[in-house]
Parts: sequence; structure tokens; C-alpha cells
Amino acid sequence: MDKIVIEGGVPLQGQVEISGAKNAILPVLACTLLTSGKNKICGVPRVRDVNTMIRLLEKFGAVVDEFKDDCLVIDTSGVNNFRAPYDLVSTMRASCLVMGPLLARLGQSVVSLPGGCAIGARPIDLHLKGFEALGATIDLEKGYVHGVVKKFRGASIYFDTVTVTGTANLMMAAVLAEGETVLENSAREPEVTFLADVLNQAGAKITGHGTDVIRIKGVSALNPLDCKIFPDRIELGTYMIAAAITGGDVEILNCNPQHVQPLVRKLRQVGVQIETEQENIRVKSNGCLRSAEIQTLPYPGFPTDLQAQFMALMTVAKGQSIIRETVFENRFMHVAELRRMGADISVDGHTAIISGIEGLSGAPLMATDLRASASLVLAALAAKGESVISRVYHIDRGYEMMEKKMSQLGAKIRRVK
Ligand code: EPU
Repeated sequence: MDKIVIEGGVPLQGQVEISGAKNAILPVLACTLLTSGKNKICGVPRVRDVNTMIRLLEKFGAVVDEFKDDCLVIDTSGVNNFRAPYDLVSTMRASCLVMGPLLARLGQSVVSLPGGCAIGARPIDLHLKGFEALGATIDLEKGYVHGVVKKFRGASIYFDTVTVTGTANLMMAAVLAEGETVLENSAREPEVTFLADVLNQAGAKITGHGTDVIRIKGVSALNPLDCKIFPDRIELGTYMIAAAITGGDVEILNCNPQHVQPLVRKLRQVGVQIETEQENIRVKSNGCLRSAEIQTLPYPGFPTDLQAQFMALMTVAKGQSIIRETVFENRFMHVAELRRMGADISVDGHTAIISGIEGLSGAPLMATDLRASASLVLAALAAKGESVISRVYHIDRGYEMMEKKMSQLGAKIRRVK
């Protein structure tokens, strides 16, 4: 298994380009199942979760061409299978996004129940209740969710909790339904709004996306998709924090500053200089940071996917910081690893209290999930001495060429087998 070795203490300098958004491409790939023909998707990041979703589409009978630059062509004319096996679903929870499209297109889906993961139990009950409200029969047998529906019928659905993939799944289920569906307390994440735009371009009739009430008027068929994935806001946030924690000066290209407003505000508050243009952000820091309080929330609040990285930053900020995680119940796996680097963090339920220290020291570290791993990379970049991060396959799930991009910024980082 690969490891990443980092010799910390180098302020990052230069330019870095952001890749397409992992959490936007995954629902879009699932969405191709609603079409019959050649879909063209560009701006696709080459990360492991994308490969997993491609393998899943192939299982259903889609033909996926080799990458041409950052574009994929996916022919869904031959889709005829509706079984998503455990070995693929268990490696990526977003696999459940195929349920809505499979039910809408083939009237059946058999998808392994994803199970828990490092950051929490993460049930999909709200997805399943939604499919039932649209007329599907859902049964659980031997770890697989069996769904059957003759044809979805529009309904009014209220999400008890804001769910990103739940909103996407139900939106995809409803586009080919008979009549109108209303999704209330929907997610407003840019990835959900983008999916609605992509569906509309293909002939769907969706309004209200970007607000918490989404209305979908069913149509009889969709055209194949032709779209370009927008830049990843979490990758962007991760590089912004990397510049801040190393006392660097980094210009980040191909990004949407509007998507990271809560982070921009917090970074400015703790003493980081940020200049934004339409598609670029420059982040400058002299390494003198103040403490802060954050609470993770659904969009447009502070994203849970940047909580671990921000915590790494606060370990070296002056004073006491407080971080409340309200989206997932167990997303503090990075705390134990950061403590091994000398960080002073105590956890009480969903709240972490961080007392800033002068500097972190390098250590052997273990990656536990995607964003926790990113926080360890950031901490290691700032730490004195060498850190060796194992289980980096977590990073490969969602960050395209992270060590190459960090090296371009001057980081002393390498991958070893
Ligand atoms: N929830 C339920 N029942 C459901 C669905 C969700 O109780 O049926 C709960 C979850 O357990 C959680 C909360 O609702 O406590 C929010 O979960 P959500 O469904 O919004 O998360 P998700 O859709 O599974 C997506 C991203 C995550 C990101 C979250 C929150 C994708 C593929 N994944 O997950 O991304 O953290 O939204 O923004 O879009 C990551 O990229 O590292 C990652 C984990």
C-alpha cells in the first residue's frame, strides 16, 4: 500500500489549478443511466471514486470509452442490468445514487446497502422513503435493497434532514415520473444545483434548485447529457488552508470563490489575506494565526468536508478554537492523529476544543477517511520534521494528483510504494 512522505516546514508558493468536483461528477455519472445514447462529460477528475462509478455503470451495461483529456463518453443505449454488487457499493457510499435512475429507467434496482463508514452510520432511509412516496416498493433482503416500480408518480416529499445525495437521488427519480414532484427541505449544495441544470439541459423540467423547495415536472424522456463539471470547492478549500497553514502565498486557478464564502470569511478572521477574482483566489499568510469558532452546516454554511482541514489549521493558531460538527456524528477521526503530532485537542461529543501550540512535529500517521487524510497532509506540511502517512488510498478517492500539485507549490512530498 502506498504511503506519502512529507518533510514539513516549507511555505507553499506559486500557482495550482483545481480539478472537476468529485461530488458533482458522481451524481452526473449516475444520471447518465436515465438516458439512452452517448453522453459526453468533460472536466472529469481522475480520482478513484470516479473509477468506481464507471465500473458500476459498466456492470449495468453502459459502455464507457477511455478518457480523452478530461472527457468521458458514456453510451447508455445498452443498459439492461439493475444489480449493484456489494464489492463496489461497499467501497463508495455514493453508489446508492444509481437507485433513483435505475428505478426510473428499468423499473427495478437491486443495490447493496452501503453500511456504515468512518464518519458515521450514514443511513439512506430518506432516499428509500422518497422512492416509496413516488410509488416504489422497497424491500431489504440479505443486505441488498430491492426496489420495484411500474412507473414513478409525482408526490410531495419532505426531507427530515437535509441530505445531499438524497436530494440528488429523488430528483433523478422524479424527472421521468408522471406528474409533479415537490422536494421540501432539499439540499442547496452547488453539486445538487448543477445536477438540476444538467438535467434541465437534457430536457427535464426542474425549478427551485438552489433553494430548499425543488419542483420537478415529469417528462417522457431525456436526451443524452453534454456537460462540463465545475471546479471542486473542497479541493479549493484544502489548498487555501494549505497556503494558510504553511505561511505561504498561493494563487489558485480555475475555481469558484462564491462556493467557499464561509471559509474565505473565517480565514480572513484568523489573519489570512485573501484576494478573490472571478475564477482565481490568492491566499497569503505570514503564519501568525488567530483562533476561531466554527460550526459545520449544510450549504451555504461551513462545509463538513473542510472541518478536518480547518482543525489542522487551528492547531497552530494563537488561543482557543472551538469546532462543532453538526452534520455527521463521528467526524473527528483526525483528532487522535493530530494529537500524535503534538496538537492540543479535547473532544466533548460533537465539539472539539483546540488550544493552539507553537508548532506541530512530524510523526507516522494513519489516514482514516478522505477529508481526515487531507487534514493530515496539511498538518504534515506545516510540521517540523518528517511525517509518513499510510493508507493514502483514502486521498486517492477524491483528490486528483495531490502530491504532484503540492510539489509544484514547493512542498517536499513524495509517494512511496
Ligand atoms: N442522513 C440520514 N438519512 C438519509 C440520508 C442522510 O439520516 O437517508 C443523514 C446522514 O447520516 C448525515 C446527514 O444526513 O448525518 C447528511 O448526510 P448527506 O446525506 O447530506 O450526506 P451524503 O449525501 O451521503 C454528501 C457528500 C459528502 C458530504 C455530505 C455533506 C457526496 C458523494 N458525498 O454525502 O462528501 O460530506 O454530502 O455535505 O456528495 C466527501 O466528499 O468526503 C464526503 C463525505
